[in-house]
Amino acid sequence: MTVIAIDGPAGSGKSTIARLLAERLDFQYLDTGAMYRAVALAVHRKNLDPNDEESVRKLLPTLSIDLRGDRTFLNAEDVSHLIRTPEIDLLASTVSKLPCVREFLTKLQRDFAEGRDIVAEGRDMGTVVFPEAPYKFFLTASPEERARRRKKQLETQGEKVLYETILYQIKSRDKQDSGRSIAPLKVAKNAVVVDTTGKTIEEVLTEIIRSMDRG
Ligand code: C5P
Repeated sequence: MTVIAIDGPAGSGKSTIARLLAERLDFQYLDTGAMYRAVALAVHRKNLDPNDEESVRKLLPTLSIDLRGDRTFLNAEDVSHLIRTPEIDLLASTVSKLPCVREFLTKLQRDFAEGRDIVAEGRDMGTVVFPEAPYKFFLTASPEERARRRKKQLETQGEKVLYETILYQIKSRDKQDSGRSIAPLKVAKNAVVVDTTGKTIEEVLTEIIRSMDRG
């Protein structure tokens, strides 16, 4: 089992990069954000208070979350599109603060990695879930660039959202993800930091692959 851990804030380009890297290396792609999003969707559907750990804890054993290729399944339902809305963006960040949710998903992520070569993408891959990963990367970009990318992505899905609103949401998610007490977003020991601002996807990929070649 070889794990390549890729962490970074929303919009840093890590999903695109992780997916392409997995394809090039013929590794499995593990999108851990999709798992947090699936939990958030379940919480939303049950009308639970995302800050009420007791009710979320009771919900968790009833959930089966499965990633197959690019698709995310929640209790066998394909929820890939339903988890990519601004509302779920924020709710995922809120439920991800709960220790019971992190524990539940960390186990799922380690099970997924068992016996496989994977590119694991998230916020705590290199710090908590796979601290022994031989390759760790931390992708960043300025909040403004990340907001522009997110706006473009939402527009391709037919959603119109103001740039200022997205920038505000990105900054509040950053604050929430970096400020939480467990598994906060931070650069792992030994991680290579890659600033993707102003770089093309190809440039970032080349930088990562070169750095892996150098060991
Ligand atoms: O990466 P993505 O934007 O899909 O993640 C959604 C949310 O899930 C993040 O804002 C973060 O709060 C949470 N998350 C996390 N740990 C991970 C992956 C995602 O806390 N490993």
